[in-house]
Amino acid sequence: MDEHEADGMKAREAHADALTILEKFDNGVALLHLNRPDALNALNPALRKELAEHFRVLAGDDSVRCVVLTGNEKAFAAGADIKAMADARPGELMRGGNERFWRPIQDFPKPLIAAVNGYALGGGCELAMHADIIIAGEGAQFGQPEIRVGIMPGAGGTQRLTRAVGKFKAMMMLLTAQPVAAGDAERMGLVSLVVADDKVVETAMEMAARIARMPPLAARKIKEAVLNGADLPLEQGMLIERQAFQLLFDTQDQKEGMQAFIEKRKPVFKGE
Ligand code: CAA
Repeated sequence: MDEHEADGMKAREAHADALTILEKFDNGVALLHLNRPDALNALNPALRKELAEHFRVLAGDDSVRCVVLTGNEKAFAAGADIKAMADARPGELMRGGNERFWRPIQDFPKPLIAAVNGYALGGGCELAMHADIIIAGEGAQFGQPEIRVGIMPGAGGTQRLTRAVGKFKAMMMLLTAQPVAAGDAERMGLVSLVVADDKVVETAMEMAARIARMPPLAARKIKEAVLNGADLPLEQGMLIERQAFQLLFDTQDQKEGMQAFIEKRKPVFKGE
């Protein structure tokens, strides 16, 4: 919080729950911190619940146009909380329905940037892969080490990772449990950008501010088209894109964007 205040960005609102901290800024950016440092931000049920609730609320908050999700310098998140699930039984996991905590993040309609320092392992790597853009510090490590504790990824690690990096890199990570360094993750297509460790949140916040200045309905439709089209044959994906493209011509922001270009002035996008 202090860091951004020192940069001249003052949080308009800050909510510190036990396991997460949410800061909202006047420029339409929200910064959400995972805050369980003693356990390297391991995702226990209480943390997942808080996180899901934040995303549910942020989705409907018109003052927020882009969200940055981050951990601390040592860990983005070291995975699901192993201690909390060591004695779990299948029926309990089914009743617990973890997917309901992931759903609001998966369905989050606005651009989401993961700002990753340190460990992004297991559920932590899967959480980062829920984001639209991943900015990593040079010292970050990404891995799916679940096999080491006798299980496998349960929140998209076999699916999103394979789609991001292809079968052979994914299998290597999933079967050996060995993490990859940020630079390798970037080359594999798992990371958007690698920066110095102490510039991760700053870079993510700058990128988020830029995105927040864009027309939000166009951002939403781009996200929808990329995510929904990714699993479809090209023709169906193109149809989704075409319909979204045409629909944007019914927005005020399209009129404003094009008129501002013609009049050689800066556009003011209202999200209408
Ligand atoms: N669950 C619960 N606690 C965890 C944790 C996790 N995933 N990761 C770290 N912690 C805790 C440690 O138990 C330790 O707590 P105590 O001080 O009370 O002992 C504290 O965080 C600090 O961790 P370490 O002392 O281990 O720190 P380190 O720097 O020596 O090692 C590490 C760091 C290599 C990340 C190591 O902590 C580790 O291997 N963690 C587990 C990583 C993992 O296997 N993640 C996958 C979990 S399963 C999963 O995520 C399923 C899914 O797909 C949904």
